[in-house]
Amino acid sequence: MRHLLDITDLSVEEIEELTRMAEDIAEHPQKYAESCRGKKLITLFFEPSTRTRMSFEAAMWELGGSVISCTDMSTSSVIKGETLADTMRVVANYADIVAMRHPYEGAAYVASLKSPVPVINAGDGGHCHPTQTLADLLTVHRELGTFDGLTVGLCGDLKYGRTVHSLINAMLRYKDVKFVLIAPEELKLPEYELDALKRAGAAYEEVRDLESAIPSLDVLYMTRVQRERFDDAAVYERVKDCYVLTKEKLSAAKQKMIVMHPLPRVNEISSDVDDDPRAAYFRQTMNGKLMRMALILKLLKEKDGAQPAGGKAWFVGGRCTNRKCITRLEKLPPLYTEENGVKKCAYCEAHENVRDKNEGK
Ligand code: NCD
Repeated sequence: MRHLLDITDLSVEEIEELTRMAEDIAEHPQKYAESCRGKKLITLFFEPSTRTRMSFEAAMWELGGSVISCTDMSTSSVIKGETLADTMRVVANYADIVAMRHPYEGAAYVASLKSPVPVINAGDGGHCHPTQTLADLLTVHRELGTFDGLTVGLCGDLKYGRTVHSLINAMLRYKDVKFVLIAPEELKLPEYELDALKRAGAAYEEVRDLESAIPSLDVLYMTRVQRERFDDAAVYERVKDCYVLTKEKLSAAKQKMIVMHPLPRVNEISSDVDDDPRAAYFRQTMNGKLMRMALILKLLKEKDGAQPAGGKAWFVGGRCTNRKCITRLEKLPPLYTEENGVKKCAYCEAHENVRDKNEGK
């Protein structure tokens, strides 16, 4: 069973494939509107979320599937002491795919061990957040057109910021990317992430000052100081407002630099930056939905060993739209072949134009 626990579970080629699909979804949403008909997504969130959960849910609805949402796990049997493994075994009976967020690191991995359906890690403590990284990568791709040769500044809570960890692991696979790690002593990147940078031979520097770093950057990735992860409230109080990006500071940046943020922001980007064309953080949230749509399609396709509709609306929900096709009578894996650019059902040989002929019959 294929899961997405860590961004490196996806190869660079697969990320490219997802990026292409997300862009196609953005251009031709109708083609995908029935792709997941009959499929269910469960969102199992043990931690607060706005964007991630809603974008997963919007993604599944827009693919024609449905959603079962558990937003407050204190109302579930977890409160009675049920283990994650047991919870997963049960919920997998009700869904085809699960997106899970949990405050403990490695929780998604544990859930995946017993899960007969794909598990997507929607954030595990301060560890990683691979689908935010998919959103981030699509944003960089759409805004700057490349990953290679970029200087990426990561600013704020590099210690507990899981989105930063996943983004670094993704970006260090591209050519000549340089990382500028902007953080105070208390919030520096953990050792295991520095090791990943060293192993990859990536260029990086650790600095304290945002202003002097800005002019060299192509991407400035701001982050929230993760109050909920601090053991010592006094440390949080000391560092909580260590960086605030303002319009004035942004004036020293390249004209083409983009400002990103996984959101929610607290004080780290002042609202006078929002109208600057370089502020990409609200566009980033739309990209999150598109990449989650592409990911759900990919994982379900691999799970069913079938080809979800993807590029062709006539194969709705992975089924041939010819109502007389044997796949309508018996449960068979949908298959199609392609000849001279025309796709045909491998069973009944209906080609894409058959959709209109059979409509309403
Ligand atoms: C991030 C997260 O949950 O890690 N938010 C998100 O998913 N968009 C960042 C944060 O909470 O600061």
